[in-house]
Amino acid sequence: MKPADLLAQPLTLANGTVIKNRFAKSAMSEALGTIDNRVTPHLANLYGAWARGGTGLVITGNVMIDRRALGEPCNVALEDERDLAQLQAWAKAGTANGTQLWMQLNHPGKQSPVQVSKQPVAPSAIPLAPRFKRFFNPPVALTEPQIENLIERFATSARIAQKAGFTGVQIHGAHGYLVSQFLSPHHNQRTDQWGGSLPNRARFVLEILRAMRAATGPAFPVSIKMNSADFQRGGFTEEESMQVAEMLADAGIDLIEISGGTYEMPQMTGVTGKASTLAREAYFLEYADKIRARVKTPLMVTGGFRSIDGMAQALQSGATDLVGIARPLAVVPDLPNRLLRGEITRSDIKRRITGIKLIDDMAMMETVWYAKQLERIAKGEPTKPDEHPLIGLVRYVSTSAVRGFKSQRVRAN
Ligand SMILES: Cc1cc2nc3c(=O)[nH]c(=O)nc-3n(C[C@H](O)[C@H](O)[C@H](O)COP(=O)(O)O)c2cc1C
Repeated sequence: MKPADLLAQPLTLANGTVIKNRFAKSAMSEALGTIDNRVTPHLANLYGAWARGGTGLVITGNVMIDRRALGEPCNVALEDERDLAQLQAWAKAGTANGTQLWMQLNHPGKQSPVQVSKQPVAPSAIPLAPRFKRFFNPPVALTEPQIENLIERFATSARIAQKAGFTGVQIHGAHGYLVSQFLSPHHNQRTDQWGGSLPNRARFVLEILRAMRAATGPAFPVSIKMNSADFQRGGFTEEESMQVAEMLADAGIDLIEISGGTYEMPQMTGVTGKASTLAREAYFLEYADKIRARVKTPLMVTGGFRSIDGMAQALQSGATDLVGIARPLAVVPDLPNRLLRGEITRSDIKRRITGIKLIDDMAMMETVWYAKQLERIAKGEPTKPDEHPLIGLVRYVSTSAVRGFKSQRVRAN
């Protein structure tokens, strides 16, 4: 079969949900909410562009389940129905053209930066590595009632997303945020039922899945994005990740998206450059091959896909069912249509490096630079693929200082 034909094939999930082709947009945090974390019309504009662009499954940037715990200023927080009308407009635009639109739900845990969080929470009171001291305050350990409250919050957000017209949800279980912190033996050193053995560390995510399912019913897709590994000494390993995938599969998860890394080790942006990885284009295909032998759940591998041939080979090899794409879709929102029509065969992206070590080590510009492109699409402006990362950095530092200040004022009131 020709690459375009392979990519154009629909995928039917076990619950009957049909994804019209094999292109999946992976979550990209938009930071297009208001300073008090409400939904804005920009989101409908942005998601309308992706829906028109031909992607079969579009996963939103992370939406926070608790407005007291943000990943960054201007995240959307979804705790109640106050924004239902705006959410409905977002869902309507994003589901046009037969697009599946799933909302990614997240709690950042200790990865909540100083400008929005004086006192982050985490499974245990273990700070991030010392070099992050200026960016993240040390966390306090969650109590058991607080853990139970967060599980209920995930379920409430999922129920409201469904009510608003989103066609599925995704638990953000990757990249070092709270779910990922619970899974990690380094970050989770609890001695109660939420820590210690792997089944105990996985209890949080399994309870979230159970609660979301109870809130949304069997036909509503619930997926997870999880790490193949944390790539950190004493952290969540590949073998543990596979065991958790088996637990989630047994508990009825509808789709598993595979990524990897954390702020401390940002492997999800492709920083390793391993020869075996580069040969196959995408970063986590070796892990996907192994997990494929252990679970029947459909897989989406994200990170590194750039060419129609690389995407088609990954599908053909059976390593993945969906091709997860993030950064290229921030520059070319109609990439699937253009690849399928044969107008282009690839969309390459450069590493966004400033020359400032701490910033480059955290791969910070990878998000800042692309988030600006998302804002341009949302405003109906053309993207700027050649903009220098330093311009983005200067803009980011000035706007984030203002946003951080405003965000703290809003939260103090
Ligand atoms: C601007 C930006 C924001 C991101 N926000 C999220 C997010 O909210 N949730 C998430 O799971 N991953 C997030 N990611 C990571 C991407 O989903 C993806 O895993 C990563 O960029 C690798 O895929 P790519 O090589 O196709 O870009 C973000 C990436 C970028 C560039």
